[in-house]
Amino acid sequence: MSGTHQGSRDQANPLRQLRLDQLRRRTSVKWREYPDDVLPLWVAEMDVPLAEPVARAITDAVALGDTGYTAGTAYPEALAEFARRRWGWDGLAVERTALVPDVMHGVVEALRLLTGPGDAVVVNCPVYPPFYGFVGHAGRRIVEAPLGDDLRIDFGTLEEAFRVARSGGRPAAYLLCNPHNPTGVLHTADELTAVAALAGRYGVRVVADEIHAPLVGAGARFVPYLSVPDAEHGLSLMSASKGWNLAGLRGGLLVAGPAAAGDVARIPFEVSVGTSHLGVIAHTAAFRDGGDWLDALLTGLDDNRRLLAALLAEHLPTVRYRPGPATYLAWLDCRGLGLGDDPAAVLLDRGRVALNSGLAFGTGGAGHVRLNLATSPELLTEAVRRMATVVT
Ligand SMILES: Cc1ncc(COP(=O)(O)O)c(C=O)c1O
Repeated sequence: MSGTHQGSRDQANPLRQLRLDQLRRRTSVKWREYPDDVLPLWVAEMDVPLAEPVARAITDAVALGDTGYTAGTAYPEALAEFARRRWGWDGLAVERTALVPDVMHGVVEALRLLTGPGDAVVVNCPVYPPFYGFVGHAGRRIVEAPLGDDLRIDFGTLEEAFRVARSGGRPAAYLLCNPHNPTGVLHTADELTAVAALAGRYGVRVVADEIHAPLVGAGARFVPYLSVPDAEHGLSLMSASKGWNLAGLRGGLLVAGPAAAGDVARIPFEVSVGTSHLGVIAHTAAFRDGGDWLDALLTGLDDNRRLLAALLAEHLPTVRYRPGPATYLAWLDCRGLGLGDDPAAVLLDRGRVALNSGLAFGTGGAGHVRLNLATSPELLTEAVRRMATVVT
C-alpha cells in the first residue's frame, strides 16, 4: 500500500481520532468503572467519535426542541433499506417490526411473546453474559448448548438441548447470537438453515439477537436469520447500537418473519412507548446515512484484528486467538498462561488492564477473557504490553 493511501486511510479511521486524555473525560461505564491507571478494553463501547450524520441528526433535533415522544416508521424504513444494500436482503417488512427500548429489553419481550414463566431458553455458551441475567429476570430457564471446539454451533449438542427444552411439551425458545458475542463468529447460511430446520422439527421458536450485524469485516457477509429457508416463524432483534456506538442513545427493533407477524402484533403498547425519540433519530440516521463511516470503522477493525494477532504471537504466544470476521470483540483462550480460571482478575490486578472475565460467559468461559479491540492501535498495543508484564 502506498504511503499516501495508508495516510488517508488512517485519517478516515474513527478508531484513530481520540486521544487517551479525551477518552478519560468520558463519563460512560467503560471509562468510569476502574481507576485511571487501568486501561479499559472491556464493555462493548467503542473509542470513536460519533459518526457525523448521527451527530448532526441529534444536534438538529436538540436545536429544534424535538425531544418529545417518538412516532412513525423512519427507523424500520432506514433499516430495511440498509438490509437491502448491505446484505442483499429485501425481506424486512416495516409492518412486521416493532420499536423496543433497546435490544435486551426487546429480547425479553420476544421471549414473553413466545414462552411462559419457567419455560426454557436455549443459548450457545460461551455467550454474552446478560443472556443469562435477562432471561432469568424474565422468569425463564436457561438450557446451555455449548459451542464446539471450533467455536461454531455444535448441532448434536443443540439438538439435545432442544429435546431437553421441549420435554413435557412446554414451549421453548432458542436465543441465537448472530454474529456471536464473544467469539466474533459469523454463522453461515448453511448453519442458519440447519438451525431453522432443527427448530422447526422440535417446535422451538428462534429469537436471533443480530445487534452486531453491521460489524462484519472485509471478505465476509452477514446473513440475516430471517432470510434463510423455513425461518418464517423467527424473530430478530436489530439495532444501530453496536455498529455506531449508540448505547447511550437507546433504541432497537423487533423484526418478525412472515409467520410471526401475529406475535409482533401482540407486543404491548407499553413496550414500544419505552423507546427514546432521540435514540430513534440517532439510529435512523446511522442506518440511513452512516454507511461511509461504518466502512472506515470496519477497515480499522480489520487492521486491529491483524495487529492483535501479531502482538499476541510476539508477546504472549501461548494465548490462543482465532479472529472471527465479525464484532469488535476478541475471545482469548488464556489457559496456557497459568493464571487460573479467571485470568481477567489477575490481568486487572497486576497488569492494570481491564478485560471481561470469561467466567461470566457461561460454560466454556473459564480461563478465557474477552478483549474489546474497538480502540486505537496504540492503546491496543499498550494493552497487550500490560498483559505481557503479568507473565514475564
Ligand atoms: C449480543 C448483544 N446483545 C445485546 C447487547 C446490548 O444491547 P442493548 O444495549 O441495545 O440492550 C449487546 C451489547 O454489547 C450485545 O453484545
